[in-house]
Amino acid sequence: MLPEDALGQVRGWIAAAARIVVLTGAGISAESGVPTFRDAQTGLWAHFRPEDLATEDAFRRDPQRVWDWYAERREALRTVRPNAGHAALARFAARHPGRLTVVTQNVDGLHQAAGSPDVLALHGNLSEDRWLDPCPLAGRGAPGCGAALAEPGRPPRCVQCGNPLRPAVVWFGEMLPERALARAEQAAAACELMLVVGTSGQVWPAAGLVHAARAAGARVVVVNPAPTELDDVAHVVLSGTSVQLLPRLLET
Ligand code: OAD
Repeated sequence: MLPEDALGQVRGWIAAAARIVVLTGAGISAESGVPTFRDAQTGLWAHFRPEDLATEDAFRRDPQRVWDWYAERREALRTVRPNAGHAALARFAARHPGRLTVVTQNVDGLHQAAGSPDVLALHGNLSEDRWLDPCPLAGRGAPGCGAALAEPGRPPRCVQCGNPLRPAVVWFGEMLPERALARAEQAAAACELMLVVGTSGQVWPAAGLVHAARAAGARVVVVNPAPTELDDVAHVVLSGTSVQLLPRLLET
């Protein structure tokens, strides 16, 4: 099929679908200037080893290094803005309340900044912190870390017990936020159309949502400038960037 015909077909599916899920990955933020993970040369994992930076073990071994790396990423996000891809999704949701669910693996908050409602953030949010451990003093006459102040530091620590803060993102080997994952699974099982945008499809359980949607009878469309692990699961693969394609698909 010619690319223009495929685009027209997918626009027709979008117009007809009562329930659409959009699963996004780092690629949707690439044109905002946020690096992806696995792209050769520019991806974060081309320059850093995830096992040194994105695991609980790494944080326990060298909390300052891991804290500083996330602090740099956080700082870089301060000047970043949503792009036309994020905006097209947010505008579609505003025009068609209740029809579109955004499920994202991104921790950059750009869907939320663009105005997408009720985003299911499977890998947490880089702008938030949480305590590394349950407070050892809680219930023993002390209020627990939740009520305590964090002493500034790299990382900041609870003034009472020394428990460090950590970024509220999901690290390798960790469980995904239960409620967000359960809602994403429900949405995937119930949708008529799933758009898979800007993800390599290499990380589970997020990638499993695409298989689940297809198995439940949804049409599946991949939007990506490069081949992905999920192309075989898709009915249509649209080759292009999210800024090029999402406005054309969603602005009817
Ligand atoms: P990856 O870096 O694995 O994949 C990024 C995808 O975006 C690739 O398929 C690119 O071809 C595509 N891409 C690049 N530029 C694009 C553009 N302008 N428009 C559309 N697509 C573009 O990132 P993810 O699939 O998001 O985990 O990675 C999944 C998870 O692995 C991340 O959430 C992160 C990482 O380790 C955690 O942080 C827990």
